[in-house]
Amino acid sequence: MEPQASPRHIPVLLPQVLDGLQAGNGDRFVDCTVNGGGHAEGILSISTPTGSLLGLDLDPQALARCAARLRGFGGRATLMHRNFAQLLAAAEQAAFREVHGVLFDLGMSSLQLASPQRGFSWQHAGPLDMRMNPDQSLTAATIVNDWDQESLANLIWEFGEERHARRIARRIVKRRQERPLRLAADLADIARAAYGRGRQRIHPATRTFQALRIAVNGEFESLQTALEQARDLLITGGRLVVIAFHSLEDRIVKEFMRRAAGKCICPSTVPQCACNPQQTMRILTRKPIRADEVEIARNPRSRSARLRIAERI
Ligand SMILES: C[S@@+](CC[C@H](N)C(=O)[O-])C[C@H]1O[C@@H](n2cnc3c(N)ncnc32)[C@H](O)[C@@H]1O
Repeated sequence: MEPQASPRHIPVLLPQVLDGLQAGNGDRFVDCTVNGGGHAEGILSISTPTGSLLGLDLDPQALARCAARLRGFGGRATLMHRNFAQLLAAAEQAAFREVHGVLFDLGMSSLQLASPQRGFSWQHAGPLDMRMNPDQSLTAATIVNDWDQESLANLIWEFGEERHARRIARRIVKRRQERPLRLAADLADIARAAYGRGRQRIHPATRTFQALRIAVNGEFESLQTALEQARDLLITGGRLVVIAFHSLEDRIVKEFMRRAAGKCICPSTVPQCACNPQQTMRILTRKPIRADEVEIARNPRSRSARLRIAERI
């Protein structure tokens, strides 16, 4: 079932992404997070008439929407229900070798967030689910009902950067001793209560939901391995374009690109470099590209987007 207030997903930083990819006729691209095909449509349009695109996504509903949107491009678009952690295998299967550009537009789409059944948002009365891939068994409900208090607190602290992580974990465990948490609203109520009264800049459940979503979908592990694979797939001069939406995700991208540019990413406390950087890429964005005020007014989701670009050498 589609969300009621069906907000359309507007691709963020579209002109900057297309500029970064430098798509030309006959080029091959992989959109690792194709979703409904917003960026993909732009890429195929500017690589007319023979540019081709392989689109991956974990969400079969999004892929169905994307297939309908890209129908007019015929055989130039290939879609696969895959985790981008299997990028090289998917590209091999689709005979997408020597790729000119790889795009990651991380996180969730507006439609996923607005769908109560998916349980991504504290604003809806849906189940505590948060799976991008409905074929997977691990859900947010499993984590909050089965993990011990210490592990929950660490998760909410590390992946949510939530200062009340211990308090929230304690309340989760207390509440589930009465009855299991089943709904997104159950968790939102706990986070709200842990914060107490007083105005907050963001909803008290935002960070806790972020942490659970990252854990349910193994987001950081997948991103780390996929970035390496993307680099290996690119031809010399090919572009890697990544949009991240929160600082932890952006740090993974930034560190990957720095190391690929031959720069050491070891913490300053380490006496000798242990990361052993080899230069395979050139960073084209010293600072991430951000949305301007016009785009933010049109698409508030773009406010936190950070776009980084690197070129294979
Ligand atoms: C922000 S949306 C992309 C929107 C798209 N660029 C557009 O313009 O329509 C992010 C998408 O990435 C997908 N996704 C997240 N993690 C993934 C992974 N590990 N493998 C494949 N797809 C993933 C989500 O299911 C979601 O559809």
